[in-house]
Amino acid sequence: MAEPGSGSLIDLVGPDRERAIPVLIDSFAGVYRWHAKRTLRTVSLVRAALVGGEVVGVALLERLNPAVGYVYYLAVRATSRRHGVGARLLDDAIAGFVGAGVRIAYAAAEGDNAASIALFRSRGFRTVERKEQGYLEGGLGAWGLRSRMWIVSGEVLLGRRLAPEPPAAPPPGGR
Ligand SMILES: CC(C)(COP(=O)(O)OP(=O)(O)OC[C@H]1O[C@@H](n2cnc3c(N)ncnc32)[C@H](O)[C@@H]1OP(=O)(O)O)[C@@H](O)C(=O)NCCC(=O)NCCS
Repeated sequence: MAEPGSGSLIDLVGPDRERAIPVLIDSFAGVYRWHAKRTLRTVSLVRAALVGGEVVGVALLERLNPAVGYVYYLAVRATSRRHGVGARLLDDAIAGFVGAGVRIAYAAAEGDNAASIALFRSRGFRTVERKEQGYLEGGLGAWGLRSRMWIVSGEVLLGRRLAPEPPAAPPPGGR
């Protein structure tokens, strides 16, 4: 069966997740590689792009809470970059989040990772400032969530609102 240039997308489950290891080795070094491999085995959802039966790209996705989705890692094999694989995986992640009722999507990237930042920006993400109004108040501030995102020095937090906050419930007995 022929696959288009950016491949077909599948879930990687259980031992099959090991098929993504070459992508992570290609894409990350040092402590990032260690953490990406660990996250590959523990994260809720792994989406993979296949070309010719090989995993050429992977997205490691988590729900931090019912309203918040997090792209832990997005990576594409060096030989398959600039063919739309990363964009396809990110579009798929966003569609999955929207379908599941997620209202905010976040991702982190090193401040000098031009490829990653350009990709997220092309999909409507923007840099989240530390002092920003919290997501529950309608902003993009990640109050109470940053510690679970494993954001390290030199990284920027990127965020995109996918849906508005629901109107606050009226106080009991109030008008
Ligand atoms: C970031 C990464 C996932 C992008 O994957 P990709 O498949 O090459 O991206 P795409 O081909 O889908 O590119 C989509 C858009 O992203 C931007 N982009 C991608 N690579 C870029 C680069 N090297 N320089 C500038 N912009 C880039 C462009 O806007 C591009 O659109 P265009 O091709 O129409 O100009 C890939 O470079 C990668 O795996 N890097 C190493 C791992 C990493 O840093 N991951 C992100 C942090 S978790």
